[in-house]
Amino acid sequence: MKLRVLSGIQPTADSFHLGNWLGALRQWVRLQDTHDAFYCIVDQHAITGNYDPKLLADRTLSAFAQLLALGLDPQKSTIFVQSHVPEHSQLQWVLSCLTGFGEASRMTQFKDKSQKDGAERATVGLFTYPILQAADILIYRANQVPVGEDQKQHLELTRDLAQRFNTTYGETLVPPETLVLSEGSKVLDLTNPSAKMSKSAPAGCVFLLDDEPAVTKKFMSAVTDSGSAIEFDPQNKAGVANLLTILASVSGRGVSDWVNEFSGKGYGELKKAVAQAVTQQVTEPTRTKANELLKDRGQLIKLLNDGAVKARSVAGETLNNVYQKVGFLK
Ligand code: TYM
Repeated sequence: MKLRVLSGIQPTADSFHLGNWLGALRQWVRLQDTHDAFYCIVDQHAITGNYDPKLLADRTLSAFAQLLALGLDPQKSTIFVQSHVPEHSQLQWVLSCLTGFGEASRMTQFKDKSQKDGAERATVGLFTYPILQAADILIYRANQVPVGEDQKQHLELTRDLAQRFNTTYGETLVPPETLVLSEGSKVLDLTNPSAKMSKSAPAGCVFLLDDEPAVTKKFMSAVTDSGSAIEFDPQNKAGVANLLTILASVSGRGVSDWVNEFSGKGYGELKKAVAQAVTQQVTEPTRTKANELLKDRGQLIKLLNDGAVKARSVAGETLNNVYQKVGFLK
């Protein structure tokens, strides 16, 4: 029996970014060969903050096209849209009734996001977001969840909720393991290497659908430091270490190899090499393929419908089991 993995990604921008790819999506692609893989475009999570309803459906479809362009294969993985599988939010309600208010208040992503936009404007949806995330995972009884470092706390909550459910109602849910890569699990903002790369700060964010001039411009303006030596020192030279990590991850050659290669050379040369590697290996092929796939929307929608049917057959089993354990009348 193969282990099962599940992961999710939000369709909140026109394009995924390099952090999504290095921290999570490249793991997704690899795992579909060894695992029973479920991958979800989490459109319900995408409406917890300010968003444009006119763009959401197109972004969801573009997200799917990008996942296929990056190498996900609907023959190997079950790929689907969260709102097409209502069992996620049905399980969320049950899990909400097991989640402490204080426990949910301690989620750092909620604290960060609600502080940024003003606490008064934060929605209850943003507050309960991690419980929906837990439901996304637990409804498939997934064993492992490949994510970037920023999701670790949500995964701890997921495990706690699974265990609490099992203690309260009897063995039903599977507490999952978090799969975080040792390299690339936290890609930093190119213009502000003290923050993670994020779509909400587009200047320092390389989008997978950016064209070659945009990618080159962003790397060439990356913030490094006032020194000149190319060394891997994440504490004191975060910007340079970030560039080296990106280069190593994209090229498949180790960081120390690249440090040797650039010995005696300047930051400009490093930036040029990273820009070239990212464009050739990641952004150009993804952009070309995704745009090609988006020409046949009907086919993409059909594949997503097939994915939802497969997902619902597993999710439905878990939900039946959960409803029975909770004591709902059948
Ligand atoms: P999201 O959509 O923000 O990001 C998708 C994945 O990309 C990773 N990631 C990064 N990795 C490295 N460096 C970065 N700068 C970087 N930025 C993002 C994220 O860690 C994530 O793995 N809450 C989730 C979506 C979600 C989910 C789930 C994930 C909903 N349900 C169930 C796993 C399982 C999120 O907002 O990811």
